[in-house]
Amino acid sequence: MVTTKEYTRQEVALRDGKNGAQTWIIIRDVVYDVTTYLEDHPGGGELITEFAGKDGTRDFDDFGHSGTAMNLLKQFKIGELNMCDRAKFQKQGSEWLPDGACVLPPKKRSKRRRFIFCG
Ligand code: HEM
Repeated sequence: MVTTKEYTRQEVALRDGKNGAQTWIIIRDVVYDVTTYLEDHPGGGELITEFAGKDGTRDFDDFGHSGTAMNLLKQFKIGELNMCDRAKFQKQGSEWLPDGACVLPPKKRSKRRRFIFCG
């Protein structure tokens, strides 16, 4: 069975391209290691390093990258964001607890917090 590696946003943030660190970038909850691609980027390496260790989804989409760019991206995929850190759940207010569990706030008219992932 092939399992997809999962990362937290915190782990990705360490790969900010500084002091010899790799350059990772998040696009639509997927984590890419683009360290070796920087010099080849038609928009220049700096446009990507600006988002090193961060979520570049909005800016990547804003430019309107072609299908070629999307295909190219696939080869740099190293994993996905951990459930708790995915955009959809963050929007709902997901929160890490100190023991590594992840919870969502209760739904309206409910007192129960919703556990979505236990790390
Ligand atoms: C948030 C990060 C990124 C930003 C802001 C960005 C921005 C840009 C811009 C402004 C251009 C146009 C360059 C020009 O025409 O002078 C460009 C082109 C391109 N970028 Fe990015 N880029 C980003 C990340 C990436 C990544 C991660 C890949 C692939 C691994 C990629 C692949 C390409 C390709 C192939 C082109 C040529 C045009 C196309 O096929 O769409 N870019 N990018």
